[in-house]
This record gives sequence, structure tokens and C-alpha cells, in this order.
Amino acid sequence: MMAHGATVLAARGISMQFPGTLALDRVDFSVRAGSVHALVGENGAGKSTLVRILAGIERPTSGHLELDGAPLHLASSRDATARGIAMIHQELNLLPNLSVTDNLFLGRERVRFGVVDRAREEQEARHLLDRLEQRVDPRTLAGDLPLGQQQAIEIARAVAQDARVVIMDEPTSALSAAEVAVLFRVIRELKARGVAVIYISHHLEELLEISDSVTVLRDGRVVAEAPAHGLGIGWIVEKMTGGAAITGGAQPAAGNTLFSVRGLCLRGELQDVSFDLRAGEIVGFYGLLGAGRTPLFESLIGLRTPERGEIRLENRSLAGLPLGQRIAAGLALLPESRQRDAIVPALSVRENVLLASRRGLCLSPADERRRAGELVRDLHIRTAGLESPVTSLSGGNQQKVVLARYLLTSPKVLLLDEPTCGVDIGARGEIYQILRQLAARGMAIVFASSELQEMLALATRILVMASGRITAEFTAGEVTEEALVAAASPLGLNPNGGSSARV
Ligand SMILES: Nc1ncnc2c1ncn2[C@@H]1O[C@H](COP(=O)(O)OP(=O)(O)OP(=O)(O)O)[C@@H](O)[C@H]1O
Ligand SMILES: [Mg+2]
Repeated sequence: MMAHGATVLAARGISMQFPGTLALDRVDFSVRAGSVHALVGENGAGKSTLVRILAGIERPTSGHLELDGAPLHLASSRDATARGIAMIHQELNLLPNLSVTDNLFLGRERVRFGVVDRAREEQEARHLLDRLEQRVDPRTLAGDLPLGQQQAIEIARAVAQDARVVIMDEPTSALSAAEVAVLFRVIRELKARGVAVIYISHHLEELLEISDSVTVLRDGRVVAEAPAHGLGIGWIVEKMTGGAAITGGAQPAAGNTLFSVRGLCLRGELQDVSFDLRAGEIVGFYGLLGAGRTPLFESLIGLRTPERGEIRLENRSLAGLPLGQRIAAGLALLPESRQRDAIVPALSVRENVLLASRRGLCLSPADERRRAGELVRDLHIRTAGLESPVTSLSGGNQQKVVLARYLLTSPKVLLLDEPTCGVDIGARGEIYQILRQLAARGMAIVFASSELQEMLALATRILVMASGRITAEFTAGEVTEEALVAAASPLGLNPNGGSSARV
């Protein structure tokens, strides 16, 4: 058991120079036992870089680390693990072809008489998953689990290591409200055991709920540090941006019916889903994880084949058409797992933005470059240049690159699955603004989000899904958070007492 309140891990004067970018500039940061330290900042501020250094993944250009007041040299992440520093990654790090158990015990297998003790590992895995309230068979392949559960497995892995410092880089971005509540219970449990937790998130409300102290990074520098108690979101945003936050209400929609869906059924996942979309509308699909939003979007674009149902775009039936023809007809889908499905790591920022237009649009190379440059500017994508490798961008900026690509194809109906997952609060405002402009020019936009605040800020109409069905419909003006949460519950009840809904 460690003494609560003692400084465990510290960064002293850490700088990190990447080609073209000074990611960290003489950063001092320290964490205490039994305490949760939030690290906030805009996309590209340097948060991931700092914690990657603390976790031994990268070596700083200058400065040093301390553990219990003594200099600490980390040559690798293995070193960090051995010293009790565990990290949960922003990009999921599980091996998809291994079971949950194998992932949990990778590198520290339970061995008995020279062979891996599978029975014991499975029993421990079950115990751990129970504690995290995850109903997952430990024999399942990690790659077969939904994103939220994969994230939970990552957290389980860090918990299993009995670490003194646990670093969580955007742990909740793929989690539903109920799962976030579970995660927070786990974090409180870690705290009570004297663990120091470093917590990075763009969900500022959640962050304030769980943190004891907040450090704000801007352009690689620590610009503010304060106890979390009594802090407001406004203060954080002001420090993050050096200015004011961007907000905006939804605008009313008009136009003709552009897209209609009737009686869509997908075995076990969608039940008799019907809705219409008019040009200029921004329709939000709200629901908990597993409500059916992703299967719905994938069925619409042609990645899944529903048993029954009709899909019409401008009165033309899309049923039976393959993905490519649906895209050509004017449909586009921004997928949920963009790091996995959409970023091409070997290519530059410009090439990643232009990927889709190569197939559909006919722009000259000069026009392409100009449009890509405009989008990079409009979405505030922080990059050393258009030709930089896309992998040199921070997580949130990579998300914005993929969004830019879909905006460039100018579809008639744009489907967005969690469009601002991992995107900072300022850039969210920019993205909402751009989507509103596109809608005003006649595009119909459909988005899925598990964030109430996003629903209320962006949607002109909200459809709620639960257990594969549409359970309620609201217009922007009449909706309340309570009504949304109630309609999203599989039982028609609010499972969280209203307080842990995501905002
Ligand atoms: N390997 C790299 N090569 C070049 N530049 C890099 C590299 N890794 C990070 N950077 C740059 O360093 C800066 C900080 O990136 P970092 O990933 O730390 O940001 P972040 O605060 O975690 O952002 P986000 O909220 O988007 O995850 C960014 O400008 C990024 O482009
Ligand atoms: Mg990051």
C-alpha cells in the first residue's frame, strides 16, 4: 500500500522536438498517489506525447523523469511496466486474433510445470471481467468484440498489472454512459488503493467528475494547473484555447424527402426500422452502445445485407446495390472505427484527405491541393504540412482528416457514426458549423452519437434507438435530456438515475 498524497511520478522540464513540431516545451507535471490527474488541451496540444514519455514509449529531447523523487530512465514501455506504470492507449492495442484471456495475460502468462496454465488464466480473467461488470466470455476473440468492450479489456489489462500509475489516454471515447459509470467506479477503486491515475479526455464534464486536479496544455506548454474542485468547463476551455468557446443552436430544417427507409430488418440487430430524411435536415440517432445505430448505418451503405426492407434515395431503390454503387448514387458513411477502417498510415495528410475523391470527383491536381488545404484550415487540422505523414498527427487530428475526406465528396446523404469522437471541444464547434453549412446547401446529414450534448447542439430532429428499434422521435425544440435518456433505455426506464448521462 502506498502513502496517499506523496508524489509518485514526475516530469521535469520535458521537451519533445518532432520534425517541424515542438510538441512539448519544458513541461513540468507530477502525479500523487491516490489521486486522479486530468490532462486537457486541444487536439495536438501534446497530451499523448507527454504520457507516451511517462510510459516509456518515447524518449524526450530534453528533461528527465522521477519516480519517488529519484531519477527514472525508461528505455522501453516494458521498463515502465516493470516500474509499475501502465498505459491504456488511445488507439486500441489488442491483438484481434487472440482471445480476451490471451490478451489480458500477454507477456505475463500464468505458467505451471513449464506450460501456460489456461484454466487459471481463464478463471482470473473471469474474475477481473466480473469486477469491471463486463459480460464477456474470456474465450471470445478480442477482434469480435464491439469497440466499447475492447476498450474495457484494455482497462482490465492495466488493472491486472497492479500498477502504481495508470495512464488513460481518452479511455471513454468508445464507451456508453453505463460503461463510463463502470469505468469511474474502477478509477475510484484504484484511487482508494493509492494508485495515481492520469486521465486524458475531451469530455470535460466527465473529466471534472472524476478528477482531483487539472493540468492544461496549450501548444506543448503547461498553461494552467488547479485543483478540480470548483472548476468550471468555461475556465478549462478558456485556458485550452486562450479564448472563448464556440457554441451554436440547431436550425430548423426544410426541403423535400430525399431518402426513405421502410421496414428494415437485420437478424437480431434491426427490427422494422423506418424513417424519412428531407434535404437540409440534420438527424441525430441517439442510443446506448448496441442499440443498433452502427448496423443501421452499415446496412444503409451496403456493408450489411438486411433480410427485409426498402431504402430509396431520390426515389430510386438502393436495395441490392453494392457499396460502390450506393456511394456513386450519393451516399457516404464516416465509419465508427476510423483509426482502423479509414486512415491509410503510409500516406500523407493530403493523400488521406483526397482518397475518396480520386474515385468519385474529377478535380485537377491543383484544385485537389487547394481544396485539401482549405479543409485542413477550416477544420483546424494541426499538421506541420499537407505532405506530412498522417501518422505524425495527433489522434484527434487524424479523425478530422477522415472527416475532411468525406466532406470533400459532397454526398447527397452523409452518414456519420460518432463524428466528433476524440475531437476537442473547440474543433467540435467548427465541425458542427461546417455540417450546418452543408445542410443549408441541401445535403441531408444523419449522425449517431451517444453524447446528449452533441444531440442537442447539432440535430434538427432526433430519433432514439434501443434494442434495434426506433423508440422515439423528437424535434430539436421540444426535447429534454430526461426524455432522451428514458427512450434510449432498453426497458424504457432510465438505468442511471439521470445523473451519469453523457454530456
Ligand atoms: N511521430 C511524430 N512525428 C511528428 N510529429 C508528431 C509525432 N507525434 C506527434 N506529433 C505532433 O506533436 C503534436 C502533439 O501531438 P499529441 O499526439 O501529443 O497531441 P494530443 O494533445 O494528444 O492531441 P489529441 O487530442 O488530438 O489526441 C502534434 O502537433 C502532432 O502532430
Ligand atoms: Mg492524443
